[in-house]
Amino acid sequence: MSEKLWIFDTTLRDGEQVPGCQLDTREKIVVAKALEALGVDILEAGFPVSSPGDFNSVVEISKAVEDPIICALSRAVEKDIEVAAEALKYAKKSRIHTGIGVSGYHIEHKFRSTPDAVLEKAVKAVKFARNLVGEVEFYAEDAGRADPEFLAKIVEAVIKAGATVINIPDTTGYCLPEQYGNIIRFLKENVSNIDKAILSTHCHNDLGLATANSLSGVLNGARQVEVTMNGIGERAGNTSLEEVVMAIKSHKEVPVYTGINTKKIYETSRIISKLMNMPIQPNKAIVGRNAFAHSSGIHQDGVLKNRENYEIIDPKDVGVEESSIVLTARSGRAALKHHLKLLGFEFDKEKLDEIYADFLTLADSKRDIGRKDLLSLLGEHLENAPFIEMKEVFYEGSEGAGGHAKVVLAIGEEEKRSESDGNGPVDAVIKSIKKLIPQQVILDEFLIQAITKGSDDVCKVHMRLMHNERPYHGFGSETDIVLASAKAFIDALNKLPVK
Ligand code: KIV
Ligand code: ZN
Repeated sequence: MSEKLWIFDTTLRDGEQVPGCQLDTREKIVVAKALEALGVDILEAGFPVSSPGDFNSVVEISKAVEDPIICALSRAVEKDIEVAAEALKYAKKSRIHTGIGVSGYHIEHKFRSTPDAVLEKAVKAVKFARNLVGEVEFYAEDAGRADPEFLAKIVEAVIKAGATVINIPDTTGYCLPEQYGNIIRFLKENVSNIDKAILSTHCHNDLGLATANSLSGVLNGARQVEVTMNGIGERAGNTSLEEVVMAIKSHKEVPVYTGINTKKIYETSRIISKLMNMPIQPNKAIVGRNAFAHSSGIHQDGVLKNRENYEIIDPKDVGVEESSIVLTARSGRAALKHHLKLLGFEFDKEKLDEIYADFLTLADSKRDIGRKDLLSLLGEHLENAPFIEMKEVFYEGSEGAGGHAKVVLAIGEEEKRSESDGNGPVDAVIKSIKKLIPQQVILDEFLIQAITKGSDDVCKVHMRLMHNERPYHGFGSETDIVLASAKAFIDALNKLPVK
């Protein structure tokens, strides 16, 4: 049966330690509320003794947040623990996270102490904290490099002293997944009172193994994971929340579930990246800009046939609207066809091949092809054989003061003429053209852009027409704005489905 995996978020503590990521209290509250909406179970709000600002943030977050347990970090020092408890006094549910280094490095070279003295200090700290708040979590710092026998001994002692959650940090990100999993299993099998506590993973990413190590911990019995959004944290970062949560959701064989509302992952990730001024690498798993973008022709073709050919996660599950098919020189016809269809155009194979050849030439000279590039490319193609051709345009008047226009169009084999008044010459020309076509169209967007400056300025007009709820784009360039507009309108009309 699937068991609950507690999500302990330390974005505001381990994550916020990153240089340049510091937030003020107001910003921390925004992040805390976003994490609450995401569904984290425990929110590590800060290290209150470290500064008055951090103390105040823990106080304010405790007041602002309802659902998660609010946790405050401390060293195994009475003063730290007292200050942490004070900062947590408004929390609906509170936890002190206290601990000490347990590896040979820390005991000998950091504390210049002995294992027995460290154990005694740990037990004293837990007992002290236990009297001040509802829940105590103990961290065995640098457990990844500690002697497993000593680790088991200290874990047993702090559980006896009242700790109900035991954090096993791979502080330096040293372990391999199998090694880290073995530590968790060893504790499960060798600590007599382990059933009275939850084991927690806390992995750093120095070797890029934080997510793998956390999952290995879970597979070996850990039931809490300590994570940060976007994987931010000391040095190479912490385990990223979104990776662990989505790995668990994607693999039903991992016997745990989380309370995370995965549809909020993308939004939360962006809020945090923006506030912390910490860009997300484009290829970051789950939340990177390219996480659901397909650029090679073979993959694009596969995704367009069936998303699951190349995607293991439905982008909607993490709050991303849809996968993207990026147009580059590596794209194939399927991707081009897909984008043209989105713009309202469908072509037979021969025409598509022709457009594709031009597309490749353009794509070789440009890194990314956007919607605008595609429309200009199309404009050229469709202009070659216009169904409607502008033969003559006469107009008078000025914008806003009214106008009158007469137009002559060649529509197929026929020549047709009409005239109309309008609130200006452009309006009058468009009304005249509309009289000659059978389709109902709405002019939805009208953009004018000057291409060259000087006495012979060229102006470029882009128009978007709506017909049967689909957009059709047209372009026209001329030295005269009314003529450019007439051309753009006719260009768009030539893209309407032929009746
Ligand atoms: O990495 C670590 O060991 C820590 C502890 C303070 C929990 O962040
Ligand atoms: Zn850490």
